[in-house]
Amino acid sequence: MVDWQYSESIESPDIVSIKKKYTNYIGGKFVEPKSKKYINTISPSTEELLSKVPLSNEQDINSSVKSAKEGFEVWSKLTPNQRSRYLFKIARLIQERSREFAVLESLDGGKPIKESRDFDLPQVAANFFYFAGWADKLDLSWATKSLKPYGVVGQIIPWNFPLLMLAWKIAPALATGNTVVLKPAETTPLTALLFAEICEQAGLPPGVVNIVTGDGSTGSLIVNHKDINKIAFTGSTQVGKLIQNSLAGRDVGLTLELGGKAANIVYEDAAIDQAVEGVVNGIFFNQGHVCCAGSRLLLQESIHDQFVKKLEKRMQSLRVGNPLDKNTDIGAINSKEQLDKITSLVNEGVEDGGELFQTQCELPGNGFWFRPSLFTNVQPSYSIAREEIFGPVLTTLTFRTPEEAVEIANNTEYGLSAGVWTEKGSKILWTADRLDAGVVWANTFNKFDPSSPFGGYKESGFGREGGRHGLLSYLKASS
Ligand code: NAI
Ligand code: MG
Repeated sequence: MVDWQYSESIESPDIVSIKKKYTNYIGGKFVEPKSKKYINTISPSTEELLSKVPLSNEQDINSSVKSAKEGFEVWSKLTPNQRSRYLFKIARLIQERSREFAVLESLDGGKPIKESRDFDLPQVAANFFYFAGWADKLDLSWATKSLKPYGVVGQIIPWNFPLLMLAWKIAPALATGNTVVLKPAETTPLTALLFAEICEQAGLPPGVVNIVTGDGSTGSLIVNHKDINKIAFTGSTQVGKLIQNSLAGRDVGLTLELGGKAANIVYEDAAIDQAVEGVVNGIFFNQGHVCCAGSRLLLQESIHDQFVKKLEKRMQSLRVGNPLDKNTDIGAINSKEQLDKITSLVNEGVEDGGELFQTQCELPGNGFWFRPSLFTNVQPSYSIAREEIFGPVLTTLTFRTPEEAVEIANNTEYGLSAGVWTEKGSKILWTADRLDAGVVWANTFNKFDPSSPFGGYKESGFGREGGRHGLLSYLKASS
């Protein structure tokens, strides 16, 4: 067989100018951190230092919350139509500068440009457009008309979809009349800081959006601030639990979007080649750094050998490497810490007795990389079948009957998403009905739309983002 190779096709990084050092964005101004401390952000594909961003302390959080409180006085008094116009403007500015954002996202976080350009950025703009459309229609919906905004919302987001998680958080919060203090993750703060420029360009009133950077200690200061009215968090289940504990007994709203260990169930009557594509997308999209990743492949026993053979062949063609190369399918692992976590879970899987297949592609010298990996011969008790790996690692289990498929699928602490592959519509509905998962995809995977609610059950968290349900997460009963 001729092994065709793709030539490099590198997206130019020239479109972005990264500053040596950044400030916070508070009260409509770019301000030096009172902490006078900074953290480094690197490019995970080269380990090169990109910039320094503030490690914000209590004084910085105090001033950002104060500014959001003042901003609320202005923002909540605007007409819904005025708020809507600001959101439309932000959406259009993001579209105009989308290439710049996509390149910066790939540099700072390691995801392939193909994904930041064709998935993240279009979705970011779509979320602002969608919620802009809602801002002046809240009074028309029976579900939202008698509700009011919380006030100041603290939003803490992760590193896997940095700008998209910002959009999921900021767009509905602003549409419903709240103001925000948002903290991006420590490894991927740069697109949130570029978004601050968009707020300035859009002429957003001071204090409506405040962006402060820092680590977990900064996040915890936001959570524990006395003037915060609601917290929206996406990240690990561990930190989600800490936040829930901190807020116990306080009159503060909370939504949590946490981890997952989704089952992707393939019945023997499924279109196998399409299912292989869907399974690949389900786990290798965004290096597997996806809370709703289809990380547990549930195969009906009769098709196991055939499916695994086709899957391994397809995996061999995945291109791992420079995130800025337009042909790259799998970019860099986001951080050294995440790479260590993936490596240790995979080693544990091998020690437990799992059979590991890894593709033989060449990996770059510097940076953090992990080969696309597939485990077969796995027992449901192994940690690779139970714990969120959050990397390009798929674990295979088998089942004989639909009942058994559902039982295995639900045998997890999580409940964020699931996939079902079969040619029978009735089987899709029968299975979906019985799955404890916030989202169930049928004959597809990882499909997103701002109008469609997303969120989990059990330890995957609570509250919904997206759609009308997403608005309700930012509104409370009028007192
Ligand atoms: P993390 O939960 O520590 O980080 C997420 C965000 O929370 C970051 O902005 C971080 O600065 C902030 N944070 C950390 N500690 C905090 C605290 N005590 N109070 C308030 N905010 C705090 O996640 P981490 O350590 O980066 O990743 C660990 C694992 O979590 C991953 O391996 C993955 O399994 C899971 N994860 C799940 C995500 C999801 O989308 N559901 C996203 C990121 C991680
Ligand atoms: Mg970085």
